[in-house]
Amino acid sequence: MPVLDFVSEYAEKNMLRCHMPGHKGRSIWGDFPEKIFSMDITEIKNADSLFESCETGGVIRQTEKNISDIYGSLDSFISTGGSTLCIQAMLTAVKLEKRRVIAVRNVHRSFINSCILLGIEPEWILPKYSDFAISGEIDTQVLENTETMLKKIPNACLYVTSPDYTGYIAPIDKLAEICHGYGAVLIVDNAHGAHLKFMEKSLHPISLGADMCCDSLHKMLPALTGSAVLHVSNKRYSPIAKHCMSIFGSTSPSYVIMSSIDRCTDYMRGNLRRDIENSLHWINDLRKKFDSSLFAPSGDPFHLSVNAGKYGFDGKIFAEILRECGVECEYSDSTLVILLLSPVFGSEDYSRLEKALESALKRIKDIKQRRAGESPKLPTEVPVKVMGMREAFFSESEEIPVGSTVGRVCAYAEVPCPPAVLIVAGGELIDRDTAEILRFYGVDTLKAVKL
Ligand SMILES: Cc1ncc(COP(=O)(O)O)c(C=O)c1O
Repeated sequence: MPVLDFVSEYAEKNMLRCHMPGHKGRSIWGDFPEKIFSMDITEIKNADSLFESCETGGVIRQTEKNISDIYGSLDSFISTGGSTLCIQAMLTAVKLEKRRVIAVRNVHRSFINSCILLGIEPEWILPKYSDFAISGEIDTQVLENTETMLKKIPNACLYVTSPDYTGYIAPIDKLAEICHGYGAVLIVDNAHGAHLKFMEKSLHPISLGADMCCDSLHKMLPALTGSAVLHVSNKRYSPIAKHCMSIFGSTSPSYVIMSSIDRCTDYMRGNLRRDIENSLHWINDLRKKFDSSLFAPSGDPFHLSVNAGKYGFDGKIFAEILRECGVECEYSDSTLVILLLSPVFGSEDYSRLEKALESALKRIKDIKQRRAGESPKLPTEVPVKVMGMREAFFSESEEIPVGSTVGRVCAYAEVPCPPAVLIVAGGELIDRDTAEILRFYGVDTLKAVKL
């Protein structure tokens, strides 16, 4: 664990730290563990430097090589700014090649923000929305639409989010084949899928032919928030990846986060596969205890989505009851409740979850919160675009109630909840259907370009 070993050894030396950070390795107030402060260093001698590590070959680079070996990538690069930084870097890399970006529409906010910053105006492909606006399937029709678009747009980059928030996994192998057939590159937002490499058969985008992808280690594996990796399998991107990361990343990346990446890497080499195998067994058992329609189907078993809408109750109320039963979910809206599981959960955690689900189900029936007949509104086409996302963002705008937005231009992408996906992007015209979908997902106000 090159970075972790370095910071631990430095902490043991008890040097007088006449360097940043200002806490000097001490927990002044005592409400944070001393150890964390002692590990929180800056780029002192031999500590390497995140964005220069390709040249220095120091401890950070060694950690990156360890990760690359594990994932079978051509190269892997650490981020302490989450997948957000990796997405910014991947899009910078394809922008440097003057590629047009085609994106499957269920993108995360970090993609939208990167496009605004970089002046990228993506061409959209609508996935097949079936049950939820935050998850869309890439079926044969969507694959055909993608191919048609790639035929028309030379020098393209296809951007796909997989797994998505509900654990749906896109057919990355098929998309890679189509992309490469037309000279396009495939980049995948695999923020939710760092663990997919360790399934019985790897489902990781790099194993399936993606040119680049990002993994948030912190989302599904035991690593501190902010821990992520940018993987590259196309040799054109290796030499420029760090440069592309450095223009967005902080010049003070956290050594505590990097140390946690090291710990996580050690776990990948150690017990992770065993823990995944055990977890899959427990998750399977848990699913069997309940009606099969209670949970939405999911390509990734660690994303467990309660199909509230189909089951006839409001997901937000169900999440509230689960909270009272001691379980905090990742996300809820009126149609679904997303529970993120992890290889670090043990059998006792699954028993706890089972009991909480059982009592929440009983209670939700008792309080008769059924919403039968009310099905989610889903986007059926991309709204009409009247100006670029960047132009819309930098235009004068005003926050108005969603009910008054029909006929107005959205200034900034609107999503059903902070971590989810967009319903209308900046620069697009809001029609009646879009306004209704926004309302359905609980969006009350929206930033519209000033008339
Ligand atoms: C699909 C998706 N992509 C990217 C991100 C951004 O990842 P991070 O928080 O690691 O920067 C998120 C965060 O929730 C996400 O859900």
